[in-house]
Amino acid sequence: MPYSAEFGDHFYCREDGRLECDHVFLGGNDVIARWQNATDFNIGELGFGTGLNFCETWRQWKQVPRDGQHLHFISFERFPMKANEIDRALSRWPEINDERNALCAAWSMEPAGNVTIEFSSDVRLTVVIGTAETQLTSFAPIFDAWYLDGFAPLRNPDMWSLDLMRSVFDRTNPGGSFATYAAAGFVRRNLQAAGFAVERRKGFGAKREMLCGIKQPI
Ligand SMILES: C[S@@+](CC[C@H](N)C(=O)[O-])C[C@H]1O[C@@H](n2cnc3c(N)ncnc32)[C@H](O)[C@@H]1O
Repeated sequence: MPYSAEFGDHFYCREDGRLECDHVFLGGNDVIARWQNATDFNIGELGFGTGLNFCETWRQWKQVPRDGQHLHFISFERFPMKANEIDRALSRWPEINDERNALCAAWSMEPAGNVTIEFSSDVRLTVVIGTAETQLTSFAPIFDAWYLDGFAPLRNPDMWSLDLMRSVFDRTNPGGSFATYAAAGFVRRNLQAAGFAVERRKGFGAKREMLCGIKQPI
């Protein structure tokens, strides 16, 4: 169970981070249904961490044969982990062995700048190294869904600031969405102030609530 001493928080819930990812991020963004009608689908993530969310998303993407569809997963990460640390963290889940092995084999020894890995003709990962606040500003509005996965809001406030939520909103396609395990009042208010229509849902496991929402089409 990876833990950040700097932020005083775990990387995902202690019960089962993979199932939490399914409930919060894939479910909260309704991606399985939306993939059926998408040609290109761009997911943005704040906080790549161990790559668990990417591996689980890729595993689910592969469940259906896809003709002419492309998934681009773009994640922002300030403190990239080493391949052996990612490998150790993700080895807990045999369900994502294939994805873990492919990620660790391709992962840079010294990640810097934009790390882009083409895993297949239809799946591409880009990890943008640096602070999300500064790096996101150079991106065009291409995102269909967001996984907001910073550390706990009170311990990692930069990842939930109004400025960053505005930056996320501005780069979201009309009809695009976000989901997060977080339910803190200031996070909900920042997402609303940024422009999202925010919904509270049942959280994963013992968590009472989570947030998700959409950018209303104009
Ligand atoms: C909860 S963990 C993410 C877990 C991850 N999604 C996974 O699948 O393992 C939060 C991540 O946000 C990163 N982080 C914290 N502050 C950041 C910032 N300002 N910009 C970019 N990344 C940041 C941390 O280094 C950490 O990897």
